[in-house]
Amino acid sequence: MSSSRRLVLSRSATLIAAASTGLLLPEIVRAQGAKVRIGLMLPYTGTFAQLGVAIENGLRLAIDEQGGKLGGREIEWFKVDDESDPSKGVENATKLVQRDKVDVIIGTVHSGVQMGIHKVARDTGVLTLIPNAGVHAATRALCAPNVFRTSFTNSQPTLALGKVLVDKGLKKAVWITWKYAAGDEAFEGFKESYTKAGGTIVKELGLPFPNVEFQALLTEIAAIKPDVVVCFFAGGGAAKFIKDYAAAGLKGKIPLYGSGFLTEGVLDAAGPAADGIVTTMHYSDSLDTARNKKFRLDYAKTYKSQPDVYAVQGYDTGLLLIQGANAVKGDLSSKAALYKAMETAVIDSPRGKWTMSKAHNPVQDIYLRVVENKENKVIGVAAKALSDSGAGCKMG
Ligand code: PHB
Repeated sequence: MSSSRRLVLSRSATLIAAASTGLLLPEIVRAQGAKVRIGLMLPYTGTFAQLGVAIENGLRLAIDEQGGKLGGREIEWFKVDDESDPSKGVENATKLVQRDKVDVIIGTVHSGVQMGIHKVARDTGVLTLIPNAGVHAATRALCAPNVFRTSFTNSQPTLALGKVLVDKGLKKAVWITWKYAAGDEAFEGFKESYTKAGGTIVKELGLPFPNVEFQALLTEIAAIKPDVVVCFFAGGGAAKFIKDYAAAGLKGKIPLYGSGFLTEGVLDAAGPAADGIVTTMHYSDSLDTARNKKFRLDYAKTYKSQPDVYAVQGYDTGLLLIQGANAVKGDLSSKAALYKAMETAVIDSPRGKWTMSKAHNPVQDIYLRVVENKENKVIGVAAKALSDSGAGCKMG
């Protein structure tokens, strides 16, 4: 075979590969259809299933408040259950972009899956809104002009936690979590704030996500007898951890603190075992504002259930998208104007007003809360207008 023919063959093979995955194309240009195509990539099964549902509910509530339209255009919805499975992240996001030709991806919950979405978002340029997953890279070293987060970075809630503990005289901590990006990065925030305030982490414990065999680790904690146990867990696993902690006889002996996800969406399932748990989070059920009260009432009426932080994040994702779409009158292909509107948006959220950092992550207050009678009650502000460092982010 001549070398020029080989070159043609190998080039066309590359193009076919690019077309089938879409990953090598810098941007997918498509006609502005009549309807806005929204792709939801969320967990609808597994330990984070309820989180996915709450995010979708919140998002739809915000959009329904606009008559179900975005920038005056009708919406067509596409949904993928990502199962919180990182190994399918790229494939699932690619389906939404290539097969469903979505204008925007909204996803997801799990940090590992987010990295798959993020690869597709960076390779294709498709607008992507992150309604939960806090993985640092998405708004630090791998930040991107087309990717906006409406939730938090994994270390944001725990950065507000360390000083609170030391101020209460809780100076020796055991940390426990699922060993994956969300737990490890929540630990980073905790370690930084706790050691700076003078606390000592006497032991780090972990188990693989989404494992819930806590027994041996709880026995180890009982033997160590720290001043305090601090953790990151969420969803179904968090409910089980809270119940197992009480059943192991640790409740009332060693106070349990955590990143606030521990007590979000699980208070019915956990029951009295959750009473007294103190956490830091960018939302609290009991925030005494007209905005929060109206949101909670509307959500409860619509879905016959109580909203949690995930519902708020979904709702705020809707608010951000609405502000962007209105600024370009529904023409999401006007990217410069769309991104500018989203970058400068002030989101009037049930959590309180927040703005976007340069790296596209919320600048927000972090509340100190305690669980009382199946509610996360606010007991103070642990950090005002907390911004993630955005370390290594260069837009462009
Ligand atoms: C994450 O994987 O980033 C994650 C999952 C659930 C949470 C918070 C963070 O509640």
